[in-house]
Amino acid sequence: MLLGAIIMGGTAFAADDIEQKAQICAACHGANGVPVNNTTPVIWGQDEGYLYLQLRDFKSGMRKNPLMEPIAAQLEKSDMFALAAYFKKKAWPDLKQPPAPDDVAAKAESAAKSIGCRGCHLDHFQGDGSTARLAGQWQPYLLNTMMAFRDGSRGNNPGMSDLMKATPADDLEALSKYLAGLQIDAYLGHGR
Ligand code: HEC
Ligand code: HEC
Repeated sequence: MLLGAIIMGGTAFAADDIEQKAQICAACHGANGVPVNNTTPVIWGQDEGYLYLQLRDFKSGMRKNPLMEPIAAQLEKSDMFALAAYFKKKAWPDLKQPPAPDDVAAKAESAAKSIGCRGCHLDHFQGDGSTARLAGQWQPYLLNTMMAFRDGSRGNNPGMSDLMKATPADDLEALSKYLAGLQIDAYLGHGR
């Protein structure tokens, strides 16, 4: 531990400090990575840059949420980086959501093509860096957050808000079901 702290430099956290902070998160985001309810997003295995940016935005008030704002308020920037790295390393949990029925999947595919979602969220919706992984996320959370981008109540990314405004609400519903039902971990080599 001491050696690790020295190697990582003065601002590094001992691993057990981060374990302790992560316990707080487990109360809602789940001790095994499965959130306690389906409007709380999976953070295990989520993109590191994306996790950091959300914590930063909850702290600054750019992204609003009555549960997350007080938690982020207590985190320093170095905690946010360390928590993002910690959760990125965990395996994305299998929420066992069913694949979307064919008609829903077709509607989602056509909306995804016309908006070009994969241009940023990548081919399998695995995300990359500061875009989010969407595949296998809770369906109610996905729909809520896309609608929140659309009506401006999630205001931390104007680009996503513009895209969601350009997408009809029933397409967003189809997209949420399609994305929630994607099983990509075997493909990504994180098979369980
Ligand atoms: C009291 C419950 C609760 C606790 C404790 C909690 N969260 Fe959250 N978290 C939420 C909810 C609910 C949301 C979804 C907010 C929304 O819909 O915008 C969320 C969203 C997030 C997001 C955004 C994820 C995404 O996909 O956009 C991140 C990152 C996050 N939490 C990290 C953490 C971390 C790290 C901790 C521990 C330091 C933590 N949370 C503790 C309830 C909680
Ligand atoms: C130009 C790039 C771009 C395109 C195209 C794009 N996104 Fe995004 N998306 C982002 C970025 C960047 C974020 C992270 C925003 C943030 O930091 O809050 C994001 C966030 C999201 C989130 C929130 C994830 C979470 O965990 O809260 C959802 C859902 C989403 N996008 C769905 C879509 C869908 C569906 C499409 C296509 C209809 C799409 N996006 C097209 C860049 C893009």
